[in-house]
Amino acid sequence: MLFSVKNRKVIVTGAGSGIGKAIAKVFAEAGALIAVCDINEDAVQITAKEIEAIGSKAVAYKVDVGDYKEVSQTVEKIVSDFDGIEILVNNAGITRDMLLLRMNEKDFDDVIRINLKGTFNFTRCALKYLLKADFGRIINIASVIGEMGNVGQANYAAAKAGIIGFTKAVAREVASRKITVNAIAPGFIKTPMTDKLPEEIKSQYLKQIPLGREGLPEEVAYLCLFLASEEAGYITGQVIRLDGGMLMG
Ligand SMILES: NC(=O)c1ccc[n+]([C@@H]2O[C@H](COP(=O)([O-])OP(=O)(O)OC[C@H]3O[C@@H](n4cnc5c(N)ncnc54)[C@H](O)[C@@H]3O)[C@@H](O)[C@H]2O)c1
Repeated sequence: MLFSVKNRKVIVTGAGSGIGKAIAKVFAEAGALIAVCDINEDAVQITAKEIEAIGSKAVAYKVDVGDYKEVSQTVEKIVSDFDGIEILVNNAGITRDMLLLRMNEKDFDDVIRINLKGTFNFTRCALKYLLKADFGRIINIASVIGEMGNVGQANYAAAKAGIIGFTKAVAREVASRKITVNAIAPGFIKTPMTDKLPEEIKSQYLKQIPLGREGLPEEVAYLCLFLASEEAGYITGQVIRLDGGMLMG
């Protein structure tokens, strides 16, 4: 089968909702074994149950990606439950939008801690196990906002730009071990994160999208599946946009 992840051991963070949930389900349909992680325990249990209904293995873990100690303990538990890890998808993220003049320190720190440090935490703790496996893929969910910036999102743009730099640095560090590290930069994807935006902001976004519609979480998941596959072994350190043409060039 093309683009196979069959029997691969995968961690997906933020798998209780939106893009992370779609990634976990698409990987499960492709036969992968999934450790679904989220701070929202009820939500991630539901994802695991939905995956089991497809007939694949899924185990749910409650973890705050921003807490290094919790992440370290969770990764150790996953390694013991799955006997290793081969693919890591750093997807968990939050927004706390506000114009910079009114943005408080906590909203800046929380967005950096969960989006950027969360990506560091899971990558740092999982990397030695990817190195042990004969195969390794790391896929970080960034955003076009990390490349373009956006009014009211200085914290989020900084975190996502940080993820892009982190992706490139780690890609160079582990390339000799045949582990690839890439980032996906989605544009405007229909999930609970964007559903809560006011209609006026949504219609402003839509005007900037040549394809004229929101993306679907599954469309992010299909790109993620390709990047995680054997066939994508010559792609590393890249930021691949999935944004309906919002940002070109
Ligand atoms: N939706 C979009 O338009 C869009 C665009 C570009 C990038 N992204 C990125 O995609 C990723 C997923 O976004 P989404 O739209 O699916 O959002 P979402 O809000 O639907 O899902 C995010 C998930 O992350 C979990 N989470 C939040 N904080 C956490 C923490 N500290 N530890 C563990 N889990 C935590 C939430 O509980 C939730 O299940 C994020 O990194 C987001 O920045 C989304």
